[in-house]
Amino acid sequence: MNITIIGTGYVGLVTGVCFAELGHAVTCLDINQEKIDALKEGECVIFEENLEGLLKNNIANGRLSFTAEYESAIPKADLVFICVQTPSGEYGKANLSYLYAAVRACAQHLNGYTVLINKSTAPVGTVTAIKELLREIAPEKNCDVASNPEFLAEGVAINDFLEPDRVIVGVDTPRAESALREAYAPLISKGYPFLVTIPQSAELMKYASNSFLAMKLSFINEIADFCELVGADVEEVAYGMGLDKRIGTRYLKASIGFGGSCFGKDVRALVHRGEEEGYEFKMVKALIAVNTVRYLVVMNKLEKHLGRLKGKTIAVLGLAYKAGTDDVRDAQSLRIIFELLDHCARVRATDPEATEQFKKDFARADEVAYFDTALEAAQGADATLILTEWDEYRQLDLVKLKSAMTGALIVDGRNILNRKTSEAAGFTYEGIGR
Ligand code: UDX
Repeated sequence: MNITIIGTGYVGLVTGVCFAELGHAVTCLDINQEKIDALKEGECVIFEENLEGLLKNNIANGRLSFTAEYESAIPKADLVFICVQTPSGEYGKANLSYLYAAVRACAQHLNGYTVLINKSTAPVGTVTAIKELLREIAPEKNCDVASNPEFLAEGVAINDFLEPDRVIVGVDTPRAESALREAYAPLISKGYPFLVTIPQSAELMKYASNSFLAMKLSFINEIADFCELVGADVEEVAYGMGLDKRIGTRYLKASIGFGGSCFGKDVRALVHRGEEEGYEFKMVKALIAVNTVRYLVVMNKLEKHLGRLKGKTIAVLGLAYKAGTDDVRDAQSLRIIFELLDHCARVRATDPEATEQFKKDFARADEVAYFDTALEAAQGADATLILTEWDEYRQLDLVKLKSAMTGALIVDGRNILNRKTSEAAGFTYEGIGR
């Protein structure tokens, strides 16, 4: 099939490359000419495991191409997937301006029967709104509109696409359903679940899934804080809970709080969408409240051992919101480093992938000193903070780390170190919930 993808961010690029890998002729469209030029050369513009290899292969075999022109990418398409950003707007409302701009830009170029599929995370009712918009601006066009939410987690996005837990499509015509079945046929034939629903259900599934996972995280973080009060170990508690198949062990890792481009934005958008209907999402609001003050756990641990932080030197290991990505959107590092600077602490930061992105995204980036390795960052530090669970931090030489520092405190915000080993190396160890 001829597939056009609008938007070459994480979702759009992964989707385009993977549909090409499944055998379709894919054109990826983006209004950013610079990005398109780089992609045409096989340069992967984002850091994502295994993406560059697939990108290069599919360009070479002629199934994947890139353009900045709607007039060349849209008319030939059987399916157009919209994968543009839907950032948090005022009061948490999803900002759909990029999405509607994409619909408007492609409307006039639609040629023959086409299915326009929204893959961008957008509130329930968006498919209906797109249909109304098309009726208004391009009533003569023969197209259906569908929803096909993405469930790609950064770092494992290729795997999530090619070996999905499920593919969900929200459609309201049999013709749109069969077009999407054809697009996903290679995955359906391998037995991956393909669920067909009405558009509203598909749209809500995305928000409900992300909110549920975020709720699990805030829940275990709340349990973690209580563990510290009563002498329990959250790692043991979570494991024991997770063995109950109704609960499951995943997304029960206590931490400094969740971040990333989706969870925070999507939970806020769900609350806002509820308010539009006069509905209050009490549990979703509670999970947001827990996550919003998560940085205090770290600040309290530092102050407990160091007293006032003014003039203290803190080594921060990890800026990305999780391991395996260079993304710092909504990362806890942003909030925690902001607080450290506000307390007049000196910050020495390092990350194997995300430093450059952090410098772009953090308003006070020039007040932070950056280093290539954990050992360099730790030189003269009163405390070391681990904010991202990178493998190289799991394998730190703790004796060397300790001797590089002036102080002895290590705050393990991801519970990746062993307390006994850390203490044997001379550290005062603070984990989360243990
Ligand atoms: C998430 C969803 O998983 C994905 O389905 C959706 O499409 C986009 O949002 P992503 O943001 O890439 O994906 O990351 P994910 O791996 O889900 O982690 C989100 C945050 O939760 C990270 O900050 C991570 O560190 C944190 N987390 C995750 C924990 O603190 N503990 C866990 O057990 C799991």
